[in-house]
Amino acid sequence: MSGARNNILEVEKLHAHYGKSHVLQGVSMTVGEAELVTLLGRNGAGKSTTLKSIAGAVTPTSGRVRFQGADIAGMPAHRIATRGVCLVPEHRGIFKLLTVEENLLLGLRRQSPWQLDDIYRIFPRLKERRRNGGGQLSGGEQQMLAIGRALMNHPRLLILDEPVEGLAPVIVEEIVAQLKTIKAAGVAILLVEQNLEVCVQLADRHYIVEQGVIVHEAGNEAFMADHEVKDRYLGVGLA
Ligand SMILES: Nc1ncnc2c1ncn2[C@@H]1O[C@H](COP(=O)(O)OP(=O)(O)OP(=O)(O)O)[C@@H](O)[C@H]1O
Ligand SMILES: [Mg+2]
Repeated sequence: MSGARNNILEVEKLHAHYGKSHVLQGVSMTVGEAELVTLLGRNGAGKSTTLKSIAGAVTPTSGRVRFQGADIAGMPAHRIATRGVCLVPEHRGIFKLLTVEENLLLGLRRQSPWQLDDIYRIFPRLKERRRNGGGQLSGGEQQMLAIGRALMNHPRLLILDEPVEGLAPVIVEEIVAQLKTIKAAGVAILLVEQNLEVCVQLADRHYIVEQGVIVHEAGNEAFMADHEVKDRYLGVGLA
């Protein structure tokens, strides 16, 4: 947690409701330039809602979301995306009747440093499968496609909701390596993921959310060593 780091994202006292249900009750967090931060918490804690509120898929009821210095809270999702915030949601939004390459080209922006060849270099499986329909892909390949398409959209902040959920261990390893490559290229990443092993392999810092508020923040080293916190908030860690 070096104070010298520039924040690309600053979330301040964010509140969100579904109808009368007050789900986010003042979430505050930051993501630095090129930093990988996780948001952890039990089922129903408000992780996906936080991601959606940042990306504009849910309209926050109060609070601030500052991205590269500008307040984006309440902007429509497409305008937030244009600024460089890309959410890869849990259900990956792959078009089943389009080919892999057509799915990727939907994300294309001419000025993006990430063009088709770059995506195929990181995800060789997508190159092999480029003429296949999106519906013919395995779950892991669909996830790679969703991440690849988001990259073509030139994200400065990539937001991932449970990218390896339900995937086989070898595929999980592949995706972890790919995320490391993307991070090394300087893209900031905000990650929600239940697989703690994946989280500690990738992250610089972690937040834990409980009932719509952040209850804990730690650097990766401290988090790994803190079995009590993992047990208290996540129900794991009593090794
Ligand atoms: N569209 C919705 N309408 C009403 N309530 C919702 C909606 N989406 C989520 N909720 C409720 O809001 C709370 C937070 O949900 P959210 O999806 O943000 O949790 P989460 O931390 O992502 O959980 P999970 O680990 O199960 O993905 C939960 O109580 C959930 O039931
Ligand atoms: Mg969720």
